[in-house]
Amino acid sequence: MKLMLIPALLCGLLHCATQASGVTIESVPGSGLDGFIQTELEETVSLTCTHEATSEDDSELVWLRNGALVSLNEVNKKGPSRVCISPVILDDREAIFTCHLQGNASVSASVVLNVTYPPSLNGSEVVTVEEEATMVLLCDIDAHPQVSAVVWTLNGTEVDLKAGRFSLTNDGLTSKLSTDKVQRSLHEGTYSCMAESPMYGSRDKEFTVDVTDKTLKFPLYPMIAGIVVVCLTTILAVASRWRKIVKCFK
Ligand SMILES: *[C@@H]1O[C@H](CO)[C@@H](O)[C@H](O)[C@H]1NC(C)=O
Ligand SMILES: *[C@@H]1O[C@H](CO)[C@@H](O)[C@H](O)[C@H]1NC(C)=O
Ligand SMILES: *[C@@H]1O[C@H](CO)[C@@H](O)[C@H](O)[C@H]1NC(C)=O
Repeated sequence: MKLMLIPALLCGLLHCATQASGVTIESVPGSGLDGFIQTELEETVSLTCTHEATSEDDSELVWLRNGALVSLNEVNKKGPSRVCISPVILDDREAIFTCHLQGNASVSASVVLNVTYPPSLNGSEVVTVEEEATMVLLCDIDAHPQVSAVVWTLNGTEVDLKAGRFSLTNDGLTSKLSTDKVQRSLHEGTYSCMAESPMYGSRDKEFTVDVTDKTLKFPLYPMIAGIVVVCLTTILAVASRWRKIVKCFK
């Protein structure tokens, strides 16, 4: 068992090569035997493709990222050809880098990026919600590897879904705590959403929820129209009356 692990470990520590039919990709950091390169956001991955050229003219190389051509300058097309992913971004998750011979796409080698990242939870947010309105708190828990647990607390103790009439959903990317009808005594306070990453430890985000009085919503437009009509009538009445009064004085 131990003996079998040694080559794999060496491969991970040294610049490892992924090879198939004459084209070889070496990477820094090295890839595992399965061709996965372990990396994180903001890091740099460099890949070098070499070809055991049988004849000089057919040794031009092509790089693909998820099947799309990577543009290379002329010098870089002759082996060894080097591409650099710097910095690694979220979009590079599971990106497949393939190098093949210009003249024969079946002479190729591939590696896959395994980008790990923590859930992007931090800071705090102030949420103002009216009494009897709907409250929705969202937590972005997207991470690789996936978070192992998400815990919501209110004023420091775990949220009691039933007592607080909350509903909680989690689609693997977002954890959503919501309630249909906010009640100050039940829902005002400081919430926290904490996600546990097996690799990066726990991350959390705070929400300070203020519940305001329910505002009475008057039907504003009909009221304005009504006021305008009343005013106009008064003005007209005074105006017509004024004419009569003025006439008297003549
Ligand atoms: C491409 O390379 C493969 C593997 O070396 C070989 O079997 C095949 O004949 C080559 N195809 C062409 C069109 O050269
Ligand atoms: C990717 O990296 C994570 C964290 O190290 C690991 O658990 C997972 O097995 C890796 N996935 C692959 C396909 O190598
Ligand atoms: C949470 O704490 C605040 C401040 O002490 C308090 O006003 C609020 O009523 C508490 N919320 C709940 C639901 O107990």
